[in-house]
Amino acid sequence: MAINVQHNYSLLGHNTFGMDVRADEFISYDSEDELKEVLKSHPKERPVFHIGQGSNLLFTKDYKGTILHSNIRFIELKSIDEKGVFCRVGSGFVWDDFCDDMAKKKFYGVENLSYIPGEVGAAAIQNIGAYGAEVCNVISQVEAVEISTGKKRIFTNKECCYGYRDSIFKNELWRQYIVTAVLFHLSVKPEVKLDYGQLKDLKAMNSVPSAEEIREAVIAIRKNKLPDPSVLGSAGSFFKNPVVSVVKYEELKKKYEDIPHYIIDSEHIKVPAAWMIEQCGWKGRSMGGAAIYEKQSLIIVNQNHAKPEDVILLVEAVQKSVYARFGIEIYPEVNYV
Ligand code: EPU
Repeated sequence: MAINVQHNYSLLGHNTFGMDVRADEFISYDSEDELKEVLKSHPKERPVFHIGQGSNLLFTKDYKGTILHSNIRFIELKSIDEKGVFCRVGSGFVWDDFCDDMAKKKFYGVENLSYIPGEVGAAAIQNIGAYGAEVCNVISQVEAVEISTGKKRIFTNKECCYGYRDSIFKNELWRQYIVTAVLFHLSVKPEVKLDYGQLKDLKAMNSVPSAEEIREAVIAIRKNKLPDPSVLGSAGSFFKNPVVSVVKYEELKKKYEDIPHYIIDSEHIKVPAAWMIEQCGWKGRSMGGAAIYEKQSLIIVNQNHAKPEDVILLVEAVQKSVYARFGIEIYPEVNYV
């Protein structure tokens, strides 16, 4: 099997932020076997980092090692019964193409997650979420290969330890496994989540909307609010929404009556970081070539040939001012490489 290694490779087309950095080596592989082959011949001391579409990354400098990318692109319907369908998808399959295919086939579960940039493997690692849905709710199993041994392991949903934008692959097993395929379990009956803001219009319809109708509505909302990475570089939401204690929330509510919030449980409340960032006056402001997006303050955009340092400085300044004003620490959702 011939492995195609590209040297001194520009990563500009591989990160939606548009950071102009280079990798010593870049390897794209087409199958699980090819990946195993790549790992076998890879010198153990050379760093390896795996990327999807690079839609949730900030490259902070040139990468002194090997960047891997999956071209494993298949959709395989495994079984279908009256409850649902099991669908196995290759890690390199473009996430939104998968959502599109499922909606057309009238399978429910990923329509609220339409139009999120990225690929299937990264979606399972990041536990992407939007408009009241999280991908972990439709993941049955995750297939992965261990970098150090080349051995395959199948993780059950439980073993993935999913949390808000979080999984075992971002914690204990960070950079230890490469996801090769994901087994989804989708519903064949309309099981729709329409409680989120603008999706409520669909709820008012006489009949239950189809997966395609929900998908269309989600795409319209996202297009209106989020920057198109092909026009304006970004990595989606830059920060996670912090979870605070009810006590802390009550304290803030005294000062900011209209503070938006989502109840997590009897002791915890999520406060939108976007709201705090906007309150601190950051919306639309820039530092170097990086800026807080004028339509959604959770997003940092590459406004004018931003360098990684511009983004890092802006992030630190935003974190400091949010802490100074609200006493809440906010952390990046985006992974720094
Ligand atoms: N808000 C502001 N100013 C803004 C934007 C929002 O004050 O500029 C306030 C509004 O009150 C709004 C609240 O913040 O009600 C929440 O805003 P929004 O609904 O836009 O969602 P978000 O919390 O900013 C999260 C996800 C998004 C996802 C949306 C919709 C995270 C980190 N982000 O954003 O995911 O699309 O909800 O479900 O949880 C991503 O992860 O890259 C991403 C885009």
